[in-house]
Amino acid sequence: MSKTSLRDCPAWRALETHSRAVSGLHLRQLFAEDRARGEHLAVEAAGIYLDYSKNRVTRETLGLLVRLAEASGLHDRIEAMFGGDRINVTEDRAALHVALRAPRDAVIEHEGRNVVPEVHGVLDRMADFAERLRDGRWKGHTGKRIRTVVNIGIGGSDLGPAMAYEALSHYSDRAIAFRFVSNVDGTDLAEALRDLDPAETLFIVSSKTFTTQETMTNAQSARAWLLAGLQGAEAAVARHFVAVSTNAEAVAGFGIDRDNRFGFWDWVGGRYSLDSAIGLSTMIAIGPENFRALLDGFRQMDEHFRSAPFARNLPVLMGLLALWYCDFLGVQTIAVLPYEQYLKRFPAYLQQLTMESNGKHVTLDGTTVDYDTGPIYWGEPGTNGQHSFYQLIHQGTRLVPCDFIAFARPLNPLGRHHDMLLANVFAQAEALAFGKTEEQVRGEGTPDRLVPHRVFEGNRPSNMLLLDELTPEALGKLVALYEHSVFTQGAIWRIDSFDQWGVELGKVLARRILPELDCAGEPELGHDSSTNALIRRYRATRGA
Ligand code: F6P
Repeated sequence: MSKTSLRDCPAWRALETHSRAVSGLHLRQLFAEDRARGEHLAVEAAGIYLDYSKNRVTRETLGLLVRLAEASGLHDRIEAMFGGDRINVTEDRAALHVALRAPRDAVIEHEGRNVVPEVHGVLDRMADFAERLRDGRWKGHTGKRIRTVVNIGIGGSDLGPAMAYEALSHYSDRAIAFRFVSNVDGTDLAEALRDLDPAETLFIVSSKTFTTQETMTNAQSARAWLLAGLQGAEAAVARHFVAVSTNAEAVAGFGIDRDNRFGFWDWVGGRYSLDSAIGLSTMIAIGPENFRALLDGFRQMDEHFRSAPFARNLPVLMGLLALWYCDFLGVQTIAVLPYEQYLKRFPAYLQQLTMESNGKHVTLDGTTVDYDTGPIYWGEPGTNGQHSFYQLIHQGTRLVPCDFIAFARPLNPLGRHHDMLLANVFAQAEALAFGKTEEQVRGEGTPDRLVPHRVFEGNRPSNMLLLDELTPEALGKLVALYEHSVFTQGAIWRIDSFDQWGVELGKVLARRILPELDCAGEPELGHDSSTNALIRRYRATRGA
């Protein structure tokens, strides 16, 4: 595609024209014109009910968006992903995470080889290890049982496992504690280890490349802590460290037994890896059977994504709606608001998935885009957000579409808590969409001077994702839903959703600055005047 071809595409142009008409419509009007809109613009698939009726769209908008998806070749892009094509063009790799959740008898080829047997081979080894750890057959160096598992990783090697552990802690073995260390800030590791007994602690060093500075530094410090606590017994490393990585050589170099490495493949992107061996901590926590249920949830959403018509396809619809707001209604951010305490890390997880994937400024062929890509995703669990930032969403000057996520059945039934929680999520979506008119405010006897303050414009869009219960299977569906929604957006924008070159420059500069911080004297600093001054000030304050 040439530089302007996406904007020149008739479907894009039609959406541009159409957006001018729609931007003047209010959701009150749209609901008044179609009394059953709330039922018409809702779709249920793979156990997820998506109500997208409170979006600023008409049927024509949806038709045009689907036309854009078709004109952009989304069908072919989906087939290319499932077929193992090297769709990550800048790294010349496939993005075949769908193979991680394929059933044992499936055939998914990569470079002419069926990868499914290898995937299940690793899953079986993980299951064996998880069972031995859970039932106490796996012992530490001194013969004690493992009581705490510490996952050391960052980015996709942390956010997925940390989110999934929190999300599924209802199903976890409470005899084992789990901690997640990611930040190179020593406080992260120090606080994680301060009350632990090395003899009862197992570290999982999770790193696809096994070269990431933060992870390697934390792993070396954890190793030193372990040896200090176990009288320097080098042999202890084999009982207290396992690795999850594609880099067998570096794992061996660290001193981790080759039998204790759980591998995966370069066709698994970091942010798409929670269902690979990177999920080892999750499997230990919830057990292999629950982990397989998680994978099954992913698989059900994969099948839906691949086979459902776009107009009834959950990830496609959600991707198209995000794109509609981002490119046609000037939206900058999307809030993800789970009304489920166990999903408190879900927004953080989604930030990497969405923004590392689609925060791109050039198309696959390197042409600078002339439309917006990757909106900013953020969020907090409800109801906490209601008492914090929802004010801006309700009455501020910016349009912030929201994804609400709720479950019909609570995992911890307690009095009327769950009814209250759900009453709140439904109420928020209603208030955002319909607001409160000046007439209504006056009708309540509000003094004149307060009327403008108490008016809610409404017309603030949201999606409502309603599931039955937060099970491992449900979590798998939810994650795959967002993975494929991100894919849909990236395919239409013609960007590479699977690379992340934007993280490189900072890494390179940090490597250059690190030795400069050590210099006791005042050797020449070759940065800009701001960076030079900061380094000097740090040296002076820290002391030699
Ligand atoms: O810094 C970006 C990144 O490459 C992420 O994409 C990745 O999830 C993370 O670093 C960690 O990488 P690794 O698993 O190789 O340590």
